[in-house]
Amino acid sequence: MSAARSKPANDPISYDATAVLATGGIQQSELDALDSPLAEARKMSLQDLERWRTESAGTEPLDPAFIDLPERLLADYGTSRPDSELFSILQTARRLREAVDRVVVLGIGGSYMGTRALFESCCHPFHNELSRGERGGRPRLSFEGFNIDNDSAQGLLDVLQSHPHGVDRDDLLAQWAMLVVSKSGGTLETAAATRLFLSALHASVGGDAKLLAERVVPVTGASGKLASLAKTIGCPDVFGIPNGVGGRFSVFTAVGLLPASIVGVDIVRLLEGAAAMTQRFRESPVSENPVLQYVAISHLAEKKMGATIRVLSSWSNQLESVGLWYDQLLSESLGKDEKGATPLTAVTTRDLHSRGQQHQDGRRDKIITNLCVGESRRDHIGLPPLSGSSGNEDQLDDLVGTTWPTMLAAATDGTNEAYASAKRPTATIHLPQIDEFIIGQLLQLLMLATVVEGRLVGTNPYGQPGVEAYKKFMMKRLRPNE
Ligand code: PA5
Repeated sequence: MSAARSKPANDPISYDATAVLATGGIQQSELDALDSPLAEARKMSLQDLERWRTESAGTEPLDPAFIDLPERLLADYGTSRPDSELFSILQTARRLREAVDRVVVLGIGGSYMGTRALFESCCHPFHNELSRGERGGRPRLSFEGFNIDNDSAQGLLDVLQSHPHGVDRDDLLAQWAMLVVSKSGGTLETAAATRLFLSALHASVGGDAKLLAERVVPVTGASGKLASLAKTIGCPDVFGIPNGVGGRFSVFTAVGLLPASIVGVDIVRLLEGAAAMTQRFRESPVSENPVLQYVAISHLAEKKMGATIRVLSSWSNQLESVGLWYDQLLSESLGKDEKGATPLTAVTTRDLHSRGQQHQDGRRDKIITNLCVGESRRDHIGLPPLSGSSGNEDQLDDLVGTTWPTMLAAATDGTNEAYASAKRPTATIHLPQIDEFIIGQLLQLLMLATVVEGRLVGTNPYGQPGVEAYKKFMMKRLRPNE
């Protein structure tokens, strides 16, 4: 949100579960009793990193390299700058920013949800609607390849081909590029979309093979179908997804960092935030550790209060995609062996008018975790006098001047009070504001919490064997003779 970037601050995010304990559904003694198992789960999660490095994991899926990745990327950038991965990402982002006005990201699951979370949380909420000048020369960002939706794909092709000057190669505003993101390089949804958009891009660059190669940036595993395609096309920039980093843990690789940097997100600050969270996770005592406390409360609410549904309730529109990214992270990581809580993203106050009834009065199977933002980025809007009338038809004259943040705070406090009165467990993750440093912390907290909980309950958080079933049956229908 370049128009009113808040001044850089190193504010930590915090986790508060006082209101959960106040329901009486979890006792402080139960929380205390979890200290040692949590410390052990943290140790196991960090040991996973060693096991992976020394290749002593055997055949079990193990993707813990995300844990210290932000620190490693930053250190490498600091010491061997021009040869570092971060430097290459920033260079390619700059090249594309200067050459095109729209970038299409093709990917599914972990190969696009983190990017969407970064884009929607850190950029102007209407980034794509702004003129290039208002966007600070940063391209628009569109997503495809995350579904097999005919009309949606056609719709994006319409947009790409609808520039008033047609495919004028000298007109920057008509130029676009695509990032193809797939760790395996073989996911059907992404591969089919790649064919479709490659053909449109080929037409858009007038069949110029060199330009086509420059406008396609694959982000993929070292080998595989996408890697071979990149070679054949001759793409000058191809980014890898490091070994040991699984799809849903890949937001701080080129998967998330490259598109984020293209649209102007400060990826160094993002990594600094993530690295700061890893440090807190490693060093803070269990009782003051936001990662471990989040795991403890969520776990105990499930075990002691039957809260098998975890509602992540965002009090900012801009964090909805963070919630959707987390839905995937938790579901694919812990939804195994007929276990694992069900995550659910809500945006409040919007969803108080759709889900609020159930959260207040429905089945007692939920814990709500608020995502609350301390300070908005823009000047506060005050309620204006009623225009077009000298009367007080809407009966709001007494609130003239009341600001949007004040109204939101009243809604948050009012909702928490209502949940407390019905003993609905409600915790809060406090974000001092929304910026790259804070979002880096938040995403890293949620990834660390997911793997720690896996180790706590004996579920391997890595791998997603269940997803293979649909792929197998889908391909059987498409290729019945194989
Ligand atoms: O977390 C995961 O690994 C998955 O959600 C993958 O990201 C998703 O299935 C896409 O896979 P790929 O990147 O191989 O196309």
